[in-house]
Amino acid sequence: MTPIRFILVGMGPRSRIWRRVLEEHPDCCMVGLVETNPDRLSKVMTEIPNAVGGFSLDEVAASVEADIALLCTPPGRRHSQVAAACAAGLGILAEKPLADTFEDAESHVTAATEAGIPLAVGLNFRYLAVTRALKALFSPDRLGSPEFGRFTYERWRDGRLGHLNKYPMSMKQPMLWEQSIHHFDLMRFVYDAEPTRISARTFNPSWSMYEGDANVGALITFTGGLEVSYQGTWASNWQRMGFEWRTECQRGIALQADMFGALGYAHRDDSELTSVTLPESEPWLDDARGLLADFVGHFRDGTPLPCPGTDHLHSLRMVEACIRSSGGEGTVSLSE
Ligand SMILES: NC(=O)c1ccc[n+]([C@@H]2O[C@H](COP(=O)([O-])OP(=O)(O)OC[C@H]3O[C@@H](n4cnc5c(N)ncnc54)[C@H](O)[C@@H]3O)[C@@H](O)[C@H]2O)c1
Repeated sequence: MTPIRFILVGMGPRSRIWRRVLEEHPDCCMVGLVETNPDRLSKVMTEIPNAVGGFSLDEVAASVEADIALLCTPPGRRHSQVAAACAAGLGILAEKPLADTFEDAESHVTAATEAGIPLAVGLNFRYLAVTRALKALFSPDRLGSPEFGRFTYERWRDGRLGHLNKYPMSMKQPMLWEQSIHHFDLMRFVYDAEPTRISARTFNPSWSMYEGDANVGALITFTGGLEVSYQGTWASNWQRMGFEWRTECQRGIALQADMFGALGYAHRDDSELTSVTLPESEPWLDDARGLLADFVGHFRDGTPLPCPGTDHLHSLRMVEACIRSSGGEGTVSLSE
Protein backbone atom coordinates (compact mmCIF):
# COMPACT_ATOMS: atom_id res chain seq x y z
CA MET A 1 0.00 0.00 0.00
CA THR A 2 1.28 3.51 -0.84
CA PRO A 3 2.15 5.42 2.35
CA ILE A 4 0.19 8.57 3.13
CA ARG A 5 1.87 11.31 1.11
CA PHE A 6 2.52 14.63 2.86
CA ILE A 7 3.43 18.04 1.50
CA LEU A 8 5.21 19.94 4.24
CA VAL A 9 4.56 23.70 4.10
CA GLY A 10 6.93 25.98 6.03
CA MET A 11 10.44 24.90 7.02
CA GLY A 12 10.89 26.72 10.32
CA PRO A 13 11.78 25.16 13.67
CA ARG A 14 8.44 23.44 14.15
CA SER A 15 8.74 21.59 10.85
CA ARG A 16 11.82 19.76 12.19
CA ILE A 17 9.68 17.86 14.69
CA TRP A 18 7.21 16.90 11.97
CA ARG A 19 9.97 15.88 9.58
CA ARG A 20 11.41 13.57 12.19
CA VAL A 21 8.11 11.88 13.10
CA LEU A 22 7.04 11.60 9.45
CA GLU A 23 10.38 10.05 8.51
CA GLU A 24 10.02 7.46 11.28
CA HIS A 25 6.41 6.55 10.52
CA PRO A 26 6.20 3.43 8.32
CA ASP A 27 2.95 4.58 6.70
CA CYS A 28 3.90 8.21 5.94
CA CYS A 29 6.23 9.87 3.47
CA MET A 30 7.09 13.41 2.41
CA VAL A 31 6.58 14.03 -1.30
CA GLY A 32 6.50 17.83 -1.36
CA LEU A 33 8.22 20.77 0.33
CA VAL A 34 6.96 24.35 0.25
CA GLU A 35 8.89 27.30 1.60
CA THR A 36 8.94 30.95 0.59
CA ASN A 37 12.54 31.46 1.73
CA PRO A 38 14.78 30.19 -1.13
CA ASP A 39 17.79 29.37 1.07
CA ARG A 40 15.69 27.35 3.50
CA LEU A 41 13.96 25.58 0.67
CA SER A 42 17.13 24.54 -1.12
CA LYS A 43 18.71 23.34 2.13
CA VAL A 44 15.75 21.09 2.97
CA MET A 45 15.56 19.88 -0.64
CA THR A 46 19.09 18.57 -0.37
CA GLU A 47 18.12 16.73 2.81
CA ILE A 48 14.95 15.22 1.31
CA PRO A 49 16.03 14.83 -2.34
CA ASN A 50 13.07 12.71 -3.48
CA ALA A 51 10.51 15.39 -2.63
CA VAL A 52 9.30 18.07 -5.03
CA GLY A 53 10.07 21.60 -3.80
CA GLY A 54 8.49 24.96 -4.55
CA PHE A 55 7.53 28.38 -3.27
CA SER A 56 3.77 27.83 -3.07
CA LEU A 57 1.46 24.97 -2.18
CA ASP A 58 -0.48 25.55 -5.43
CA GLU A 59 2.65 24.94 -7.49
CA VAL A 60 3.84 21.88 -5.56
CA ALA A 61 0.37 20.29 -5.31
CA ALA A 62 0.09 20.61 -9.11
CA SER A 63 3.34 18.72 -9.68
CA VAL A 64 3.10 15.81 -7.25
CA GLU A 65 0.42 13.37 -6.13
CA ALA A 66 -0.22 13.85 -2.42
CA ASP A 67 -2.79 13.27 0.30
CA ILE A 68 -2.06 15.81 3.06
CA ALA A 69 -0.82 19.37 3.42
CA LEU A 70 0.93 19.84 6.75
CA LEU A 71 0.99 23.56 7.51
CA CYS A 72 3.97 24.62 9.65
CA THR A 73 3.69 28.23 8.61
CA PRO A 74 2.95 31.25 10.81
CA PRO A 75 -0.79 31.28 11.59
CA GLY A 76 -1.60 34.59 9.86
CA ARG A 77 -2.53 34.82 6.18
CA ARG A 78 -3.01 31.09 5.59
CA HIS A 79 -5.91 31.65 3.15
CA SER A 80 -3.94 30.78 0.03
CA GLN A 81 -2.55 27.63 1.67
CA VAL A 82 -6.00 26.45 2.74
CA ALA A 83 -7.45 27.32 -0.67
CA ALA A 84 -4.67 25.39 -2.43
CA ALA A 85 -5.19 22.33 -0.21
CA CYS A 86 -8.96 22.45 -0.80
CA ALA A 87 -8.52 22.83 -4.57
CA ALA A 88 -6.13 19.86 -4.69
CA GLY A 89 -8.32 17.73 -2.38
CA LEU A 90 -5.57 17.48 0.25
CA GLY A 91 -6.44 16.84 3.88
CA ILE A 92 -4.99 19.50 6.20
CA LEU A 93 -2.98 19.13 9.36
CA ALA A 94 -2.30 22.70 10.50
CA GLU A 95 -0.09 23.83 13.32
CA LYS A 96 -1.82 25.73 16.09
CA PRO A 97 -3.30 28.28 16.18
CA LEU A 98 -5.23 27.70 12.97
CA ALA A 99 -5.23 31.47 12.35
CA ASP A 100 -4.42 34.69 14.16
CA THR A 101 -8.01 35.93 14.16
CA PHE A 102 -11.15 34.02 15.02
CA GLU A 103 -12.81 35.05 11.73
CA ASP A 104 -9.93 33.67 9.65
CA ALA A 105 -9.96 30.38 11.56
CA GLU A 106 -13.69 30.08 11.03
CA SER A 107 -13.31 30.75 7.32
CA HIS A 108 -10.58 28.05 7.03
CA VAL A 109 -12.86 25.53 8.77
CA THR A 110 -15.77 26.49 6.49
CA ALA A 111 -13.59 26.21 3.37
CA ALA A 112 -12.43 22.71 4.38
CA THR A 113 -15.96 21.59 5.23
CA GLU A 114 -17.29 22.87 1.89
CA ALA A 115 -14.47 21.13 0.03
CA GLY A 116 -15.17 17.92 1.98
CA ILE A 117 -11.62 17.66 3.31
CA PRO A 118 -10.59 16.86 6.90
CA LEU A 119 -8.85 19.65 8.79
CA ALA A 120 -7.01 18.82 12.03
CA VAL A 121 -4.95 21.14 14.24
CA GLY A 122 -1.63 20.26 15.88
CA LEU A 123 -2.63 20.30 19.55
CA ASN A 124 0.19 18.00 20.60
CA PHE A 125 -0.05 18.80 24.32
CA ARG A 126 -3.19 16.67 24.45
CA TYR A 127 -0.92 13.72 23.70
CA LEU A 128 1.49 14.14 26.60
CA ALA A 129 1.43 11.25 29.09
CA VAL A 130 0.98 13.78 31.90
CA THR A 131 -2.12 15.22 30.22
CA ARG A 132 -3.74 11.79 29.90
CA ALA A 133 -2.84 10.90 33.50
CA LEU A 134 -4.20 14.19 34.83
CA LYS A 135 -7.48 13.71 32.97
CA ALA A 136 -7.79 10.19 34.43
CA LEU A 137 -7.48 11.55 37.99
CA PHE A 138 -10.86 13.27 37.64
CA SER A 139 -12.82 10.03 37.25
CA PRO A 140 -15.57 9.39 39.87
CA ASP A 141 -13.56 6.58 41.53
CA ARG A 142 -10.46 8.77 42.00
CA LEU A 143 -10.56 12.50 42.83
CA GLY A 144 -14.02 13.09 41.42
CA SER A 145 -15.27 16.19 39.61
CA PRO A 146 -13.08 19.28 39.53
CA GLU A 147 -14.73 22.38 41.04
CA PHE A 148 -11.99 24.98 40.81
CA GLY A 149 -8.42 25.32 39.62
CA ARG A 150 -5.41 27.56 39.15
CA PHE A 151 -3.17 27.44 36.09
CA THR A 152 0.07 29.42 36.09
CA TYR A 153 2.64 29.52 33.32
CA GLU A 154 5.56 31.88 33.87
CA ARG A 155 8.24 31.93 31.24
CA TRP A 156 11.00 34.27 30.17
CA ARG A 157 10.75 33.61 26.45
CA ASP A 158 13.64 35.29 24.69
CA GLY A 159 12.07 35.74 21.26
CA ARG A 160 15.43 36.95 19.85
CA LEU A 161 16.97 33.46 20.10
CA GLY A 162 17.84 32.00 16.72
CA HIS A 163 15.81 28.82 17.11
CA LEU A 164 12.57 30.66 17.93
CA ASN A 165 10.11 32.10 15.42
CA LYS A 166 10.12 35.89 15.02
CA TYR A 167 6.55 36.77 14.04
CA PRO A 168 5.22 36.74 17.66
CA MET A 169 7.48 39.73 18.45
CA SER A 170 5.10 42.01 16.58
CA MET A 171 1.76 40.28 17.26
CA LYS A 172 -0.82 42.28 19.22
CA GLN A 173 -1.49 39.38 21.58
CA PRO A 174 1.45 36.97 21.26
CA MET A 175 0.88 35.15 24.56
CA LEU A 176 -2.79 34.47 23.88
CA TRP A 177 -2.52 33.29 20.27
CA GLU A 178 0.73 31.40 20.52
CA GLN A 179 0.80 29.96 24.04
CA SER A 180 -2.45 30.38 25.98
CA ILE A 181 -4.22 28.64 23.10
CA HIS A 182 -2.47 25.43 24.21
CA HIS A 183 -3.50 26.03 27.84
CA PHE A 184 -7.13 26.79 26.99
CA ASP A 185 -7.27 23.70 24.80
CA LEU A 186 -5.79 21.60 27.62
CA MET A 187 -8.37 22.89 30.10
CA ARG A 188 -11.25 21.99 27.77
CA PHE A 189 -9.71 18.58 27.05
CA VAL A 190 -8.71 17.59 30.58
CA TYR A 191 -11.82 18.91 32.32
CA ASP A 192 -14.11 17.73 29.49
CA ALA A 193 -15.98 21.01 29.84
CA GLU A 194 -16.70 24.10 27.74
CA PRO A 195 -16.13 27.69 28.83
CA THR A 196 -19.26 29.69 29.58
CA ARG A 197 -17.77 33.08 30.57
CA ILE A 198 -14.42 34.81 30.75
CA SER A 199 -13.14 37.92 32.40
CA ALA A 200 -9.56 38.81 31.40
CA ARG A 201 -6.83 41.45 31.47
CA THR A 202 -3.87 41.40 29.15
CA PHE A 203 -0.88 43.71 29.59
CA ASN A 204 2.82 44.09 28.93
CA PRO A 205 5.44 44.64 31.65
CA SER A 206 8.05 47.37 31.06
CA TRP A 207 10.85 44.84 30.37
CA SER A 208 8.89 42.83 27.78
CA MET A 209 10.57 42.46 24.38
CA TYR A 210 7.17 41.84 22.75
CA GLU A 211 5.31 44.67 21.05
CA GLY A 212 1.96 43.21 22.10
CA ASP A 213 0.80 41.90 25.44
CA ALA A 214 2.97 39.14 26.90
CA ASN A 215 0.78 38.75 30.01
CA VAL A 216 -2.68 37.29 30.40
CA GLY A 217 -4.78 37.00 33.54
CA ALA A 218 -8.20 35.40 33.22
CA LEU A 219 -11.04 34.06 35.31
CA ILE A 220 -12.80 31.34 33.36
CA THR A 221 -16.07 29.62 34.22
CA PHE A 222 -16.73 26.24 32.61
CA THR A 223 -19.91 24.22 32.24
CA GLY A 224 -20.94 22.73 35.56
CA GLY A 225 -19.68 25.84 37.38
CA LEU A 226 -15.97 24.89 37.38
CA GLU A 227 -13.92 28.05 37.99
CA VAL A 228 -10.33 28.42 36.77
CA SER A 229 -7.97 31.25 37.46
CA TYR A 230 -5.30 31.54 34.78
CA GLN A 231 -2.06 33.49 34.66
CA GLY A 232 0.28 33.18 31.72
CA THR A 233 3.31 35.19 30.69
CA TRP A 234 6.18 35.14 28.25
CA ALA A 235 7.80 38.04 30.13
CA SER A 236 8.36 36.56 33.56
CA ASN A 237 11.46 38.23 34.94
CA TRP A 238 13.32 35.08 35.88
CA GLN A 239 14.69 32.70 33.31
CA ARG A 240 13.69 29.65 35.35
CA MET A 241 10.32 28.43 34.15
CA GLY A 242 7.32 28.42 36.50
CA PHE A 243 4.49 26.00 35.77
CA GLU A 244 1.77 24.91 38.15
CA TRP A 245 -1.70 23.56 37.43
CA ARG A 246 -3.62 22.72 40.56
CA THR A 247 -7.20 21.45 40.49
CA GLU A 248 -9.47 21.09 43.49
CA CYS A 249 -11.88 18.17 43.25
CA GLN A 250 -14.56 16.54 45.38
CA ARG A 251 -12.07 14.21 47.10
CA GLY A 252 -8.80 16.10 46.95
CA ILE A 253 -6.45 17.92 44.63
CA ALA A 254 -4.41 17.19 41.50
CA LEU A 255 -1.15 19.06 41.05
CA GLN A 256 0.89 19.20 37.85
CA ALA A 257 4.13 21.03 38.58
CA ASP A 258 5.89 20.77 35.22
CA MET A 259 4.74 21.12 31.61
CA PHE A 260 5.85 17.58 30.84
CA GLY A 261 5.34 15.74 34.12
CA ALA A 262 5.60 16.10 37.92
CA LEU A 263 2.03 15.02 38.49
CA GLY A 264 0.70 14.22 41.95
CA TYR A 265 -2.49 14.14 43.93
CA ALA A 266 -3.57 14.35 47.57
CA HIS A 267 -6.74 13.71 49.54
CA ARG A 268 -7.77 16.36 52.06
CA ASP A 269 -6.10 14.76 55.08
CA ASP A 270 -2.94 13.50 53.36
CA SER A 271 0.24 15.05 54.64
CA GLU A 272 2.13 14.44 51.40
CA LEU A 273 1.37 14.49 47.71
CA THR A 274 1.34 11.06 46.04
CA SER A 275 3.30 11.07 42.78
CA VAL A 276 1.76 9.58 39.67
CA THR A 277 4.22 7.39 37.77
CA LEU A 278 4.35 8.33 34.12
CA PRO A 279 5.89 6.37 31.26
CA GLU A 280 9.27 7.54 29.94
CA SER A 281 8.72 9.92 27.07
CA GLU A 282 10.52 12.29 24.75
CA PRO A 283 8.83 15.70 25.05
CA TRP A 284 7.84 17.27 21.71
CA LEU A 285 8.44 13.99 19.84
CA ASP A 286 6.19 11.47 21.57
CA ASP A 287 3.30 13.94 21.65
CA ALA A 288 3.70 14.64 17.92
CA ARG A 289 3.99 10.87 17.31
CA GLY A 290 0.73 10.29 19.20
CA LEU A 291 -1.09 12.95 17.23
CA LEU A 292 0.26 11.61 13.95
CA ALA A 293 -0.78 8.05 14.88
CA ASP A 294 -4.37 9.20 15.43
CA PHE A 295 -4.28 11.28 12.24
CA VAL A 296 -3.10 8.27 10.24
CA GLY A 297 -5.72 6.12 12.01
CA HIS A 298 -8.42 8.41 10.70
CA PHE A 299 -7.32 7.87 7.09
CA ARG A 300 -6.57 4.17 7.38
CA ASP A 301 -9.21 2.89 9.82
CA GLY A 302 -11.85 5.61 9.88
CA THR A 303 -11.24 6.46 13.55
CA PRO A 304 -12.26 10.01 14.58
CA LEU A 305 -10.15 12.84 13.22
CA PRO A 306 -7.97 14.07 16.11
CA CYS A 307 -8.18 17.74 17.12
CA PRO A 308 -10.63 18.76 14.38
CA GLY A 309 -10.73 22.41 13.33
CA THR A 310 -14.39 22.63 14.40
CA ASP A 311 -13.35 21.76 17.97
CA HIS A 312 -10.35 24.12 17.86
CA LEU A 313 -12.74 27.02 17.23
CA HIS A 314 -14.02 26.61 20.82
CA SER A 315 -10.50 27.20 22.18
CA LEU A 316 -9.94 30.12 19.81
CA ARG A 317 -13.22 31.61 21.01
CA MET A 318 -11.63 31.74 24.49
CA VAL A 319 -8.68 33.71 23.09
CA GLU A 320 -11.05 36.10 21.37
CA ALA A 321 -13.14 36.47 24.56
CA CYS A 322 -9.99 37.39 26.55
CA ILE A 323 -9.16 40.11 24.02
CA ARG A 324 -12.71 41.50 24.12
CA SER A 325 -12.86 41.34 27.90
CA SER A 326 -9.52 43.08 28.31
CA GLY A 327 -10.55 45.64 25.71
CA GLY A 328 -13.37 46.85 27.96
CA GLU A 329 -16.23 44.38 27.57
CA GLY A 330 -15.92 43.06 31.12
CA THR A 331 -17.15 39.52 31.56
CA VAL A 332 -17.75 37.95 28.16
CA SER A 333 -20.40 35.23 27.89
CA LEU A 334 -19.56 32.22 25.74
CA SER A 335 -22.66 30.21 26.34
CA GLU A 336 -24.79 31.58 23.49
N1 LIG B 1 2.51 22.68 18.67
C1 LIG B 1 3.62 23.19 19.18
O1 LIG B 1 4.05 22.79 20.25
C2 LIG B 1 4.34 24.26 18.41
C3 LIG B 1 5.64 24.66 18.74
C4 LIG B 1 6.24 25.66 17.98
C5 LIG B 1 5.56 26.25 16.94
N2 LIG B 1 4.29 25.84 16.65
C6 LIG B 1 3.52 26.44 15.55
O2 LIG B 1 4.08 26.04 14.31
C7 LIG B 1 3.91 27.07 13.33
C8 LIG B 1 5.27 27.42 12.74
O3 LIG B 1 6.13 27.78 13.78
P1 LIG B 1 7.70 28.02 13.51
O4 LIG B 1 8.30 28.29 14.85
O5 LIG B 1 8.27 26.95 12.68
O6 LIG B 1 7.60 29.42 12.67
P2 LIG B 1 8.71 30.19 11.80
O7 LIG B 1 8.13 31.54 11.49
O8 LIG B 1 10.03 30.15 12.48
O9 LIG B 1 8.82 29.32 10.47
C9 LIG B 1 7.78 29.31 9.52
C10 LIG B 1 8.37 29.02 8.14
O10 LIG B 1 7.29 29.13 7.19
C11 LIG B 1 7.75 29.84 6.06
N3 LIG B 1 6.57 30.43 5.39
C12 LIG B 1 5.88 31.54 5.73
N4 LIG B 1 4.82 31.69 4.90
C13 LIG B 1 4.86 30.66 4.03
C14 LIG B 1 4.02 30.26 2.96
N5 LIG B 1 2.95 30.96 2.61
N6 LIG B 1 4.34 29.14 2.27
C15 LIG B 1 5.43 28.41 2.63
N7 LIG B 1 6.27 28.74 3.64
C16 LIG B 1 5.96 29.85 4.34
C17 LIG B 1 8.72 30.87 6.63
O11 LIG B 1 9.61 31.35 5.63
C18 LIG B 1 9.43 30.04 7.69
O12 LIG B 1 10.53 29.34 7.18
C19 LIG B 1 3.20 28.21 14.06
O13 LIG B 1 1.82 28.10 13.85
C20 LIG B 1 3.53 27.95 15.53
O14 LIG B 1 2.57 28.46 16.45
C21 LIG B 1 3.69 24.86 17.35
